[in-house]
Amino acid sequence: MTESISKSEEYGSSPVVSEAAVTSALRSVVDPELGADIVELGMYRGFSFDSDVLVVEVALTTAACPLRSQISRDVTERLGGLPGIGRVQVKTTEMSPEEKRRLMNRARARAAANPTHTHIPDRTRVLAISSGKGGVGKSSVTVNLAAGLAARGLTVGLLDADIAGFSVPRMLGMQGELAARRSESDGKILIQPLTKAVGTGELRVVSMGFLSPEDESVMWRGLMLNRAVQHFLEEVDWGDLDYLLVDMPPGTGDIQMGLARMLPRAEMVIVTTPALAAQKVAARAADMARKGYLRVAGVVENMSGFVCSHGDLYELFGSGGGERLAAEIGSHLLARIPIEPAVSAGGDSGKPAALLAGTASDAFEVLVEAVLALEPVTEMSSCSARILDTVRNALAAKA
Ligand SMILES: Nc1ncnc2c1ncn2[C@@H]1O[C@H](COP(=O)(O)OP(=O)(O)O)[C@@H](O)[C@H]1O
Ligand SMILES: [Mg+2]
Repeated sequence: MTESISKSEEYGSSPVVSEAAVTSALRSVVDPELGADIVELGMYRGFSFDSDVLVVEVALTTAACPLRSQISRDVTERLGGLPGIGRVQVKTTEMSPEEKRRLMNRARARAAANPTHTHIPDRTRVLAISSGKGGVGKSSVTVNLAAGLAARGLTVGLLDADIAGFSVPRMLGMQGELAARRSESDGKILIQPLTKAVGTGELRVVSMGFLSPEDESVMWRGLMLNRAVQHFLEEVDWGDLDYLLVDMPPGTGDIQMGLARMLPRAEMVIVTTPALAAQKVAARAADMARKGYLRVAGVVENMSGFVCSHGDLYELFGSGGGERLAAEIGSHLLARIPIEPAVSAGGDSGKPAALLAGTASDAFEVLVEAVLALEPVTEMSSCSARILDTVRNALAAKA
């Protein structure tokens, strides 16, 4: 695969250019998705001359990389500007799985070395509850998991990152306005989360739903969505948290990438339904992994059938989706939450089903246990690349 952009100058023999000059120019070519330059990421592979044409080799994570032409164009532009260089040709190749693994390592290390300054303690486990699609129950899973963890006496932060479609305040029956106060620890003025006691534990919640209409308009005027989440991460006085759960907006867009960059230690809990076509879900999960390079802590299957009052199970939305997805992305199923009116009723009344008796409550209890039993976070740097490969293999097998 080659793409070349010619410049009009003609040269009689091969020009001379140093490796240092080429690498230095290429350090300004940044892979926007990985947030690092192509030299640092090991994508630049070297150059040669074909008479007067400077041929540059660039390895991409996938031959079908949507950024291929952008990267080629940037490379051509940067190198074409070097003294004595006439024409530039970019030769793209595809990385081997091992090379991809190394690339993801570098990207993660880089993100970890430049994190956003937050007031989230290092010991806090950060879980971003995500899915490729809206309406699968992310918010319901988030608030019930948060309530279940708090009921164990833990302090749980809950960041409602669904800026445009927030539902956490209603689901927890919380109202009020966020106030700012000078923090005792560093004297900065910080936003105080609203709190709710659950047993001996506590929820600390931040949501767009807690901004006054004036604050809200300031946010909308001045800040992009991603900035709002950054605001919540940087300027909230979370205090000492055992867990921080992030209720993600639907989709796999900017907020996911932003979170990956701002909080590289965050892990995703992917919510799915039993029915979503495995291939579609796998592709979305791959997309999230590729864009966000966040580790996946596990999968939750929601709406996993309905248990009627006689105890019979009706699998209204099919079955097996959670297990299939977990297998395809090399993760595991944390829990299966049945469809139960108490979940939606609890969402409307602000009383999470996890805190009441019932089959959904039992299932959320399984989820709480599974989350408490997660292995401590270690540098699982190969994870995203492994996910990518697994997904790609699964897709190839289906094709
Ligand atoms: N297990 C469940 N049983 C019954 N209703 C559910 C369940 N999970 C979610 N719901 C309902 O489905 C709708 C969408 O759930 P929600 O948590 O808002 O999804 P998301 O945050 O992914 O958009 C809500 O009305 C919610 O009450
Ligand atoms: Mg939601």
